[in-house]
Amino acid sequence: MIGIFDSGLGGLTAVKELRRLMPGEPLIYFGDTGRVPYGSRSAATIVKYASQDAAFLLSQGVDAILIACGTVSTTALKELEKNLPVPVIGVVEPAAEAAVKATKNGRIAVIGTSATIRTGAFEAAIRARMPEAEVISRPCPLFVPLVEAGFTAPDCEITRLTCEHYLAPIRESGADTLILGCTHYPLLAPILSEILPGVTLISSGAEAAKAMAALRGQHSEGVAPVRYYVSDDPTLFVASGGTFLGCDISGGVEKIDIERY
Ligand code: DGL
Repeated sequence: MIGIFDSGLGGLTAVKELRRLMPGEPLIYFGDTGRVPYGSRSAATIVKYASQDAAFLLSQGVDAILIACGTVSTTALKELEKNLPVPVIGVVEPAAEAAVKATKNGRIAVIGTSATIRTGAFEAAIRARMPEAEVISRPCPLFVPLVEAGFTAPDCEITRLTCEHYLAPIRESGADTLILGCTHYPLLAPILSEILPGVTLISSGAEAAKAMAALRGQHSEGVAPVRYYVSDDPTLFVASGGTFLGCDISGGVEKIDIERY
């Protein structure tokens, strides 16, 4: 059983891809909706939250963990790898690998939370594979609150204006590939693609899911259940998550007290 966690809805981008690649694998998802957003917090707080999230998943018997959160992957991966008794996969290396494969002009843009961009982790992972790459990084701190509030419709004026504001320098840079370094951002993909036509969007959550599927190798047959847990009232998570996943998850979401872990 694979455990996946994020600060909220974003990690569902990894769940969706894992369902496609390995439907027979039981999954357990934790979205820390009571403490979202992570991306505006200090590294020490992010490490603490991530350790509790992983401890909860371990208590459920998972034998691998996918950190479906750019903020945790860039800030706390080493700490978790050191302390956890199961394999851990983050989003940075898989997304950088996909971006380097996708770019034709060597100009790669990265967007993420303030905490993520501060670490420079995506940039380092890109340069390790393509030293001559031109990397443009931008924090987009308003995206996570917009997604968590359900402002994801392609015709939402507030979200569109916010996207235009953040993406203007990326459009000017001529980048042909954009890493969505925060797993929430693919929920805004229809608007992002309209503002950046012709730019390849890399979903960091989906790329991490592919890396996890490759790590697991053989996949079992059939369709296994997915259990969802959150740390606050599940109503918004059920509505937005169900829309994104394209299925009704209202019967399968439970609230837990994450501070116990
Ligand atoms: N999905 C998380 C990420 O990938 C969002 C972090 C946040 O809660 O700010 O960074």
